[in-house]
Parts: sequence; C-alpha cells; structure tokens
Amino acid sequence: MKKPLMAGNWKMNKLHTEAKDLVEQLWPQLADNEGVEVVVCPPFTALATVAGSIDAGGMRIGLGAQNLYFAESGAYTGEISPPMLAALDVKYVIIGHSERRTIFAESDELAARKVRAALDHGMTPILCCGESLEEREQGVTAKKVERQIRAGLEGMAAEEVAGMVVAYEPIWAIGTGKTATPEDAQEVCGHIRTLVAEMHGAEAAAGLRILYGGSVKPDNIRELMAMPDVEGGLVGGASLQVDDWVAICNFNL
Ligand code: PGA
Repeated sequence: MKKPLMAGNWKMNKLHTEAKDLVEQLWPQLADNEGVEVVVCPPFTALATVAGSIDAGGMRIGLGAQNLYFAESGAYTGEISPPMLAALDVKYVIIGHSERRTIFAESDELAARKVRAALDHGMTPILCCGESLEEREQGVTAKKVERQIRAGLEGMAAEEVAGMVVAYEPIWAIGTGKTATPEDAQEVCGHIRTLVAEMHGAEAAAGLRILYGGSVKPDNIRELMAMPDVEGGLVGGASLQVDDWVAICNFNL
C-alpha cells in the first residue's frame, strides 16, 4: 500500500542552524503519524546538519535535495554530484522544478539525465512538471505536461518508474496563493497516470506516486488529497512554517 508523501521544498531558505531547529521542532508533532511519509528538502548547505538531526533523533523524516548534477565528479564548478548526496543519506531529489527550468534554463533533456543519475545512485527522483498561466489559457496544459513527462521518463525501466514520484505543479499556482481546484489537479494528475501507463505499463503507473504542488496550505490539503490521483504534496512556503507544515503532514488525522 502506497503511503501519501508530503515533501517540503525549502528552496533557498534557512541557514543550516535554522534548518536544524526547524526539523527538531517538527518531529515531536509528526512522530505519531505513521500514515504519511514526510520528506524535507533543505538547501545543500543544510543537508549534512539536517541528516545528523534526523539520525540522532531517530526521526522518520526522509531527506531530499532540491537538485543535482548528473556527472559523478569533475570540472563542474558549483554543482553537486549524486554520490555527494547519497553519502548524506539523501533519499529523494527534486528534478526539473519550474524555477530550475525558467530561471536556470534547464531543459527536458537535462531533467532526464538527472532522473537517470538519481536512480543510478539509489535515490528517488521527484520529477516536476506543470504549465504556465499562458499555456493554461491557450489550452495546452496537457500537451506541455505530456512533453515533460515523456522526456523525463523515456528510457527508464518500468520497475524504476513504479518507485518514482512525479509532482504536478502549475507554475501560476507556485508561491502565488492561487491553488488549482482539486478537480483541475485531478484532471492533470489522472492524465499523467494514463500517460505513464501507456509508456511503461499499468503496474508502473499504479506504483508511481503523483503529488500536487502550488500554494498547498492546511486549508486546501484535505480536498486535494481526496482526489484519486493526488497522492501527496510538494510544498514550498507552507513547509517553512511549523504549524502549517505539521497540519499539512497530519492531514489524515
Ligand atoms: P509553494 O511552492 O507551496 O510555495 O507554492 C511549491 C513549490 O514550488 O514546490
């Protein structure tokens, strides 16, 4: 049985000392809820510290990174390799977030290479996709998401896809306070599952976890999670607020 997954994307926020405090404040309020898998994705500079806190506190909180580069090592100034993350017990890696795609011009092809690299190092990719407001208004949401998913999952084995995570994040909903309606989120998440079934078979599609992201808050998480193909959230702003993040992770209690 798949557990819902709540992944906190802390983006470029929190010093390593603050990140440690945050995870230590979260844990006592999350410890009793075994029904939800919780992951936090601090910036690279805080990964080692947060990994240490999770380990020392025996916390059932997974560690995720927000990005990686696909090469093992070498002359890639400013980049972080898969082995560097795996050595810190990083279990999840966000790949192809819309901020990477738009601000840092990351392509579908690069996202695919990163997905491959994460899988090759035993980490679970959280592959992001989603349309801009303009694309939604032009009615090309499905086409855009389909292109991103096809590119990102092309060539992966069905068993690998079955263990992966995809996050549908409409760009117009990220950090704006505008959330997709549960029905809109379901429509796209359902479409993703159908597409993955076509590409990799029914078992891979059933195993894949699909998250919704974009202004997830305590007051909309329950209705989003009530949708059949929404199996968790990729949460930015609200994952930095202890009370909001706890309420989101404990949506099932
Ligand atoms: P938000 O960010 O929850 O602040 O909208 C979500 C994301 O970008 O992953």
